Amino acid sequence: MYTLGLNAAFHDSSAAILKDGVPIAAAEEERFTRIKHGKRPVPFLSYQLPFHAIDYCLREAGIGLREVDRIAYSFDPSLCLEGADVSSMTLPLEPSAQPREDGRHPWEPLFLAGIVNAPRFLVGDWPHHLSQVRDGIESAAELPPFEFVEHHLSHAASTYYVSGFRDAAVLTMDGRGERDSTLFAVGHGASLAKVREVMLPNSLGVLYERVTEHLGFLHSSDEYKVMALASYGSHALLPRFRSLVNLTAEGGYETAMSDLAAEFGPVRRRGEPLEGRHFDLAAALQTTLEETVMDLAFRFQRETGLDDLCLAGGVALNCVMNGRLRDQGPFRRIFIQPAAGDAGTALGAAFVVDARERGLASEYTMEDAYLGPAFDAAEIRRVLDGAHLAYEEPPDIAEATAALLAEDKIAGWFQGRMEFGPRALGARSIVASPADPDMKTRLNAIKQREEFRPVAPAVVEERADEFFAPAAPDPFMIFIRDVRPEKADAIPSARHIDGTARVQTVSRHTAPLFHALIEAVGQRTGVPVIVNTSFNTRGEPIVCTPEDALACYFTTSLDALAIGPYLLRKR
Ligand SMILES: [Fe+2]
Repeated sequence: MYTLGLNAAFHDSSAAILKDGVPIAAAEEERFTRIKHGKRPVPFLSYQLPFHAIDYCLREAGIGLREVDRIAYSFDPSLCLEGADVSSMTLPLEPSAQPREDGRHPWEPLFLAGIVNAPRFLVGDWPHHLSQVRDGIESAAELPPFEFVEHHLSHAASTYYVSGFRDAAVLTMDGRGERDSTLFAVGHGASLAKVREVMLPNSLGVLYERVTEHLGFLHSSDEYKVMALASYGSHALLPRFRSLVNLTAEGGYETAMSDLAAEFGPVRRRGEPLEGRHFDLAAALQTTLEETVMDLAFRFQRETGLDDLCLAGGVALNCVMNGRLRDQGPFRRIFIQPAAGDAGTALGAAFVVDARERGLASEYTMEDAYLGPAFDAAEIRRVLDGAHLAYEEPPDIAEATAALLAEDKIAGWFQGRMEFGPRALGARSIVASPADPDMKTRLNAIKQREEFRPVAPAVVEERADEFFAPAAPDPFMIFIRDVRPEKADAIPSARHIDGTARVQTVSRHTAPLFHALIEAVGQRTGVPVIVNTSFNTRGEPIVCTPEDALACYFTTSLDALAIGPYLLRKR
């Protein structure tokens, strides 16, 4: 049974396809269209579907649209309509001209119209160059059965069904779903049951987004920058910030919609210098988030008695919070899949439908994120030759690249299937040695990133414990851990100011070539650790195709490009 999952309501539009509970392919639309996040997170763009990602998923599965058994969309508009008679609803011509008396978003009718009509757009809105993917389907009635799946249930399914756990507590937190921002659920075998929700406007995700915007960054995108800023701040603003979030007797929380400028000083305009109060506000936000989530987790664990936790939703991309939950929280094991944000809901919506239809939990456990397109050597060679480029084909691309990294060169690393989710994990990465103390600055310069941003290390799984604590595999780079103090000097560029690092542990089994690269670097330098940042420049999505990789390579100061078996070098 093929189930196609779609995410398109907010942003990070994506598609995923399952065959009998096993993901065949999943990818974000941004990688194909080269528009970061697929589209802007504004309510009037809800009609835009991830056509390129759908096309990719169907090609990877080797089927046409007619052969899909079910289509699952990760947002259920009926939950927002509350029994309204949709046949007689009218859309305002200028929605934001007048605020709505009920406090709801003025663009909500248009937002919902975009979603309600998704089946029609899936027939009628294909870009011309992909129109054959429609498979001759002429009307929404001819589509495979199309259903809307609750947003947070989709988040929950995206982590629970691929966790390998058979009994688990599930917690999802993001900015917003249909009417909720947080879901507590319990997974048992094929079933995934809701326990309780936190309803809007209360939302830890929205609070984080508001502070992100207040600090002059792009909300729903740059939250991880605020997380990085937090480690530079003091706790001066913590007592005041804490009062914005209150736990409820029911096991949820309330967030106050206070005026941040009145409480914490004026908004920082984009590009203005960062001052102490900005760092302090980020620190207060981050600590408040961590404390709140810890309290919620302890209560939920006591209630359920379960040992394992699955996390999802944009808030679950906060690897500092995740690290604290792992080290000080009540659960024995925590699973977070790499596309924890909205992109992952395409996978989750498909899993909800798949588990229900087949009555079975998936046998699949997600051990790697490589669900995107791959390009074989012949395809890559055609692109290189077509552009009249000089390249070598060394006997061992991992060895040849390692030799360059050992000389403190920086290389693009383009190998195998692209990652699903926002993190580069050794398929579309920029790689370098962390031994040079200036490497962080050099990498941030290539990527035109702010200097406070850390770069993350990747270490061979077998030797992670020598450099980092605690010892636990983390193939998705989604928890921070401490750099062992005695190793700090060996990897100065991989260590954040607070002594932590966002580490990827690399397995020989799931990422053999990336593992070989790091091991070869270790043989040369004695340190089997590299720094790994996503293969893109500022404002661009991660590269997808060989052409994207070449464009990035030739427009930055990258020293080399390892692309498939081929190596390109600059003078
Ligand atoms: Fe979400």
